[in-house]
Amino acid sequence: MAVRSVLLAVTLVAAGTLPALAQDEFKALPPGEGRDVTIKVCSQCHSPEVVAQQQLDIAGWKQIVDTMANNGANATDAEFDQIVKYLATAFPAN
Ligand code: HEC
Repeated sequence: MAVRSVLLAVTLVAAGTLPALAQDEFKALPPGEGRDVTIKVCSQCHSPEVVAQQQLDIAGWKQIVDTMANNGANATDAEFDQIVKYLATAFPAN
């Protein structure tokens, strides 16, 4: 648990020091913390922009990300956490 929190903190700090990548082809994805890792992990099999078709709460996004992990998405727990948070912020349930 402690190790996981440290990993998450390190990842968040690292992400915060990167310059905002405003220029790329994924215009459906709004800027935000976790965007880069979402693109990295979620474009392994399909466009990361498929997420823009859905609006879910955090539990709903966690379920999608868990499904993709079962499909074979390759990332650390800290990265999956960041992706779920990014998606729940960028595409929240109405
Ligand atoms: C290992 C391959 C793989 C990776 C990596 C992957 N996906 Fe998928 N994804 C799929 C496949 C296969 C489908 C279509 C079948 C399905 O719905 O499971 C899909 C479909 C989807 C859909 C549409 C589902 C629907 O029913 O409308 C969404 C949303 C999605 N993925 C989100 C993500 C997110 C978010 C990530 C990053 C965490 C991700 N995917 C990473 C394989 C992958």
